[in-house]
Amino acid sequence: MEGDKKKTHFGFTDVDEAEKEKKVHHVFANVAKKYDLMNDAMSMGVHRLWKDYYVGGLQIPYNAKILDMAGGTGDIAFRLLRHSPTAKVTVSDINQPMLDVGKERAEKERDIQTSRLEWVCANAEQMPFESNTYDLFTMSFGIRNCTHPEKVVREAFRVLKPGGQLAILEFSEVNSALKPIYDAYSFNVIPVLGEILASDRESYQYLVESIRKFPNQDEFARIIREEGFGHVRYENMTFGVCSIHKGTKPRK
Ligand SMILES: C[S@@+](CC[C@H](N)C(=O)[O-])C[C@H]1O[C@@H](n2cnc3c(N)ncnc32)[C@H](O)[C@@H]1O
Repeated sequence: MEGDKKKTHFGFTDVDEAEKEKKVHHVFANVAKKYDLMNDAMSMGVHRLWKDYYVGGLQIPYNAKILDMAGGTGDIAFRLLRHSPTAKVTVSDINQPMLDVGKERAEKERDIQTSRLEWVCANAEQMPFESNTYDLFTMSFGIRNCTHPEKVVREAFRVLKPGGQLAILEFSEVNSALKPIYDAYSFNVIPVLGEILASDRESYQYLVESIRKFPNQDEFARIIREEGFGHVRYENMTFGVCSIHKGTKPRK
């Protein structure tokens, strides 16, 4: 029945839960080919520094098995391979066009051993991976696009080995002093860049709105804690524009 359908948000618009997944899929299928260019343009290259810092701060065990969920075009996976010469990375994303761009990039990057990468199209809310498999779970700028972030954290907990690490990079709540200028830039400049560089204003309007709808640092840390992780903490970057959330799956 129409009235029974659960509602969620797609940016600032209320939609049925099932519709959100389709719409998000459409956004990333549309932007896949221009995704890397747009990231550089929107953040003026700063996303590279955030990602370098995020991956640089990870403690990766020898021969680690890593799951990079919502891995898109491989930005995090490539950094992980460079950071750890022995790690193997499963790059997973719900969107095959994003993974296809990632695979093409991997072939072109001279220092990337493609044999250490595996590409799996999957939904973060229902991962097709066995329990207690990975040493590290990473997810960068992906979880806010999921309908149920708590289900993603639950799945991350399941697929991590006891003692395994969760590390999530996501846009967050910016410091209130910076908010007016940040809002002006996000709402006025980013959709226009989307229009000019990718002929797609709507997708970039959604991306900006989705940041505002995602739980703030403390709320998200609470979700991670509630799903069973220990040693839960976060670190803000660029005055809270984004933050890195970490937790550990207890050994017992
Ligand atoms: C902003 S991109 C981030 C890509 C990459 N991690 C990065 O940092 O550049 C968000 C990614 O999340 C993926 N995504 C959205 N919903 C998902 C879901 N439910 N399960 C898995 N991936 C999802 C999208 O397809 C897209 O590739």
